[in-house]
Amino acid sequence: MSELSLDGRVAIVTGAGGGLGRVYALELARAGAQVVVNDVGGSVDGAAAADSPAQAVVEEIEALGGKAIASTDTVATVEGGRSLVRTAVERFGRVDVLVNNAGILRDRSFAKLDWDDFGAVHDVHLRGAAHVTQPAFLQMKEQGYGRLVFVSSNAGTFGNFGQAAYGSAKAGIIGLSNVLAIEGGRDGILSNVVCPIARTRMTESIFAPGTAEPEHVAGLVVYLASEACAVTHQVFSAGAGRYSRVFTGLSEGWVSPDGAAASAEDVARHLEQICDTQRFTVPQSAADELAELSDLLEPAEA
Ligand SMILES: NC(=O)c1ccc[n+]([C@@H]2O[C@H](COP(=O)([O-])OP(=O)(O)OC[C@H]3O[C@@H](n4cnc5c(N)ncnc54)[C@H](O)[C@@H]3O)[C@@H](O)[C@H]2O)c1
Repeated sequence: MSELSLDGRVAIVTGAGGGLGRVYALELARAGAQVVVNDVGGSVDGAAAADSPAQAVVEEIEALGGKAIASTDTVATVEGGRSLVRTAVERFGRVDVLVNNAGILRDRSFAKLDWDDFGAVHDVHLRGAAHVTQPAFLQMKEQGYGRLVFVSSNAGTFGNFGQAAYGSAKAGIIGLSNVLAIEGGRDGILSNVVCPIARTRMTESIFAPGTAEPEHVAGLVVYLASEACAVTHQVFSAGAGRYSRVFTGLSEGWVSPDGAAASAEDVARHLEQICDTQRFTVPQSAADELAELSDLLEPAEA
């Protein structure tokens, strides 16, 4: 029995038929949650398959003595997202945890961009996360409780060659989580992001077996999904046994004399100070940044 119990909690994990999502679903179930195991099946690039692997993961959870149900809804449509959340509520009565993990890859350099691929990647990752989260968020607000776990990537936080569609969708997911952490806060909804690094079919050509496995990420996901979770509005990196916080800092910067508009030459002259990260803050909202400028900014007349 896990110390951080999810007994009585209901969790949805999208893309949970294999890879990281399967291990999240198994570990959430091991911690006591009833799990909706969602997956459309298909290859890494999102080409549809006849059979979804979700039912097999349900059977693995049942073999552990847990409760689970399979869903083959696609996250890539508004209706798929609604149907998935409806399945959870109809079967288990509530939605406490949503792990937005479903994903596909269609990498190519920006110079060779294919708009269908760009759209498909955004439909599954950024729009997909929103399609499922919107109905789940409404349910969580009604309950006065919820745990949202979004899945991003270092391609989104830091950039990666050949991943314009994927990286922009994954960065957008962080923006979505940040807003929901603010909008959901007063209703007991916490929202955080995980950037995993693990060997799955997506990355088997990059990592050797053993050192960076989905199990290295799952503990963080279960923590963020639990009632004990003490953070919101955060982004974490997890892989190969290293767990870190990723954050967006604002350097102290350079303030022009009397807040006057700087010329291009002024900017060039002060670039080092503008970019210097020795002193910085980590604003938790747009309002936090504006508060830092309160000596310089005057609000508009009401
Ligand atoms: N493996 C890594 O190192 C790594 C790094 C950064 C981010 N990620 C992210 O982690 C998540 C899981 O990836 P993974 O590595 O386990 O790969 P994976 O391909 O094994 O898992 C993705 C799952 O999502 C499912 N899926 C795809 N489209 C779907 C849709 N429309 N609706 C429902 N399910 C759908 C797939 O069938 C698949 O089972 C993805 O969001 C991925 O971008 C993985």
